[in-house]
Amino acid sequence: MDTEPKPNGRLAGKVAIVTGAAGGIGGAVTERFLQEGAQVVAMDLGGPLGGIAWDGPQIVSVSVDLADRVNTDAALETALAAFGTPDILVAAAALKGGKSFLDCSDADWDSYVAVNLTGTFRACQRVAKAMVAAAKGGRIVTVGSVNSYMSEPNAAQYVATKGGIAMLTRAMAVDLARHGILVNMIAPGPIDVPSNGDMYREPKLAASLADEVALGRPGLPEDCATAALFLAEDENRYTTGSTITVDGGLSAMIFGAMR
Ligand SMILES: NC(=O)c1ccc[n+]([C@@H]2O[C@H](COP(=O)([O-])OP(=O)(O)OC[C@H]3O[C@@H](n4cnc5c(N)ncnc54)[C@H](O)[C@@H]3O)[C@@H](O)[C@H]2O)c1
Repeated sequence: MDTEPKPNGRLAGKVAIVTGAAGGIGGAVTERFLQEGAQVVAMDLGGPLGGIAWDGPQIVSVSVDLADRVNTDAALETALAAFGTPDILVAAAALKGGKSFLDCSDADWDSYVAVNLTGTFRACQRVAKAMVAAAKGGRIVTVGSVNSYMSEPNAAQYVATKGGIAMLTRAMAVDLARHGILVNMIAPGPIDVPSNGDMYREPKLAASLADEVALGRPGLPEDCATAALFLAEDENRYTTGSTITVDGGLSAMIFGAMR
């Protein structure tokens, strides 16, 4: 079966900002949006941590440290000026991993809240204000996780911020609806991205995924890009405050049911 995406200009004439664009999922979103004809402002950490590889007439890269408010404000102004008022924001940047609840220090907690929640809030609010001022509507896609609803060991501050993203998404959807801005979240499950290394190929975890995920395998970042594309395009006219879960059926199934 041919499952390769077939780009056909679904975002022609659109301007998109993507945070976390140097990462696995943000990178796939950036790539797909470019293929679909959008102009993309790719935002991520500068330097060795977040080097952004794209170059060309359709794309501008802007360094941002979402943990730093002053830097974030300046970077967002640069992003907004690059191609004019954006039609789309995909907020994919985040710190992943985490600590167990008992081991999570104030510094651990603050760093995750700063990037994952406050950074997402600031990016979404500034872009939404630009969309409202331009009075042309828009689409905002946040990236939560199945951890927005389900916890796991040793990830207390991560899952707490992802739960926050779920409600922030709904709050934005409600407050921005009358401005024609639709806001939705994608909730990835286990997605095989470079920053996860070989994790999903280790035999123990691969066997466990075969039991825990209805489709029996991890997803690809391109699977998240497909969902983000639907939520970002004009054809999505009535889905807002909602979530597309991209988890291969992980959260639809009682653990071990596939054994
Ligand atoms: N991969 C998965 O299995 C999975 C599952 C559920 C949810 N997610 C979510 O998907 C999104 C993308 O994750 P990914 O798997 O592609 O991870 P990733 O680590 O490859 O990408 C995250 C990106 O965020 C950037 N980032 C981190 N701190 C930043 C900061 N202070 N300022 C600016 N950028 C910063 C990183 O540089 C990185 O490029 C995240 O929100 C993550 O929580 C991923």
